Amino acid sequence: MNYSLINEEDSNPAAESVIVAGVFNDGEAVRPGVPEDLKEPLAKLAERHGRWHRKGQFHFVSLNDTDLIIAGLGEEDAWTERAAEETGAALQRFLMREHVTETRLYCSSFALNKSEGHLKSFARGMTLASYEVDTYKTGRKSGQSRPVELQAVYAGDPEKGERVFRSGVIQGTGTNEARRLINTPANYMTPTVLAEEAVRLAGEYEAEIEVFDEERIEAAGMHALMAVAKGSEEPPRFIVLKHRGRPDSDEWDTALVGKGLTYDSGGYSLKTRDGMKTMKMDMGGAAAVLGAMRIIFEEKPKVNVAAIIPSTENLINGKAMKPGDVIQSLGGKTIEVLNTDAEGRLILADGVAYANQIGAKSIIDTATLTGAVVVALGDTATGAVTNNEDLMSLVISAGDRSGERIWAFPNDKAYREKVRKSDVADLNNSPGRQAGSITAGLFIGEFAGDTPWVHLDIAGTGWQEGKTSLCPRGGTGSMARTLAEAVCRMEEK
Ligand code: BES
Ligand code: ZN
Ligand code: ZN
Repeated sequence: MNYSLINEEDSNPAAESVIVAGVFNDGEAVRPGVPEDLKEPLAKLAERHGRWHRKGQFHFVSLNDTDLIIAGLGEEDAWTERAAEETGAALQRFLMREHVTETRLYCSSFALNKSEGHLKSFARGMTLASYEVDTYKTGRKSGQSRPVELQAVYAGDPEKGERVFRSGVIQGTGTNEARRLINTPANYMTPTVLAEEAVRLAGEYEAEIEVFDEERIEAAGMHALMAVAKGSEEPPRFIVLKHRGRPDSDEWDTALVGKGLTYDSGGYSLKTRDGMKTMKMDMGGAAAVLGAMRIIFEEKPKVNVAAIIPSTENLINGKAMKPGDVIQSLGGKTIEVLNTDAEGRLILADGVAYANQIGAKSIIDTATLTGAVVVALGDTATGAVTNNEDLMSLVISAGDRSGERIWAFPNDKAYREKVRKSDVADLNNSPGRQAGSITAGLFIGEFAGDTPWVHLDIAGTGWQEGKTSLCPRGGTGSMARTLAEAVCRMEEK
């Protein structure tokens, strides 16, 4: 989305673009900021057609030779950040549907000056709703909608407005990027291609990146990642992408670790045919981390961040791991593989161990890890476990600010003991049905040691079967903006 913010006083209502004004159900029908000569006719219209104020309704009107879009906003009391996000999204879709490409949005009429959060959420909503899934249909180009040119007419300090609006757009852009990576079919989005995407992202911001190939993964001792990768013809990759917000320091303030399973068939513990249909989404954690890194590169927090992505497919061949195998890991613990479909925790074990090796002071991992979290929380909330309540609070409140709900599961010794039960190894990767999301998370926690760590299970929130106002069917980009927001908050601390 192309946008600019201009000061209300400098705005020229005679300009060509379509004017967009919001109308609340109560209070002043026409708020300050709307061009003077439109106020009276607008007020009359609003009075005559009460239904136009209804939330989420948009209408084209021509007044004094000016084209207007009137947006119904509902009750002003209910004008929350979330409502602003929804309305931004609804407006974006209306503009796209009606092929409106140049607009002049009167921010005051939408009460976007109410708080920074309102303006930011509105911009994020517009950006999120602009995302369309690429298709491979012949004769039809994907991403057909023309981008909307938006001029936001803003009362108050337009420089501050520009900064806030921009940060909302960037949150949306990072999320949309994650969606694109997830929605790309697994035959296109292999570990190699995922690594190329990361290299391209690093190139855009002149950021440091390392991509380990198979030999280097092997040499580094990432045996758990290798155990999963053995069953596939596609070579694995281990991606380390860095943001140096404190260039004077060699320390890593935080590591973001993302599960990059570009396809999960389950391996010999094979999934059902239906269970396999959407398993290209099993790199949703990696996508979230890459989306977050774009936001971080744009926002430039003074925080040193290492993004770590172990990436492979989970398939079957003559060399694939088998139920009952015992494998080694980078962290040194041995693992009894009871279920080859519990592969995410294996590759994350090496990812988190690597974060510890480079001395990360905190670790947040994100993964489409368990079917159990879909049962527990659906696609509404991301499930979480931690060894550090402070870090958990930071992540949850970052989620609140980003419009993403996170729910913390308990971390009791009894759950940890389940993971440590094995006759032949230090850990087992599948302790059974009970509390499946907790034990999966705590397995990864075994490799975090004492480092403050939060695990986010996005198996439910990472993909949606139906479309919503903010997102079409498919990958949602869950946690991309929350991870970035959490990192930005680390700077404030
Ligand atoms: N990638 C799946 C989890 C998943 C399930 C993601 C549904 C999205 C939707 C993961 O690798 C997996 O298969 N987990 C198993 C673990 C079990 C074998 C202990 C599961 O949840 O069934
Ligand atoms: Zn699996
Ligand atoms: Zn998986």
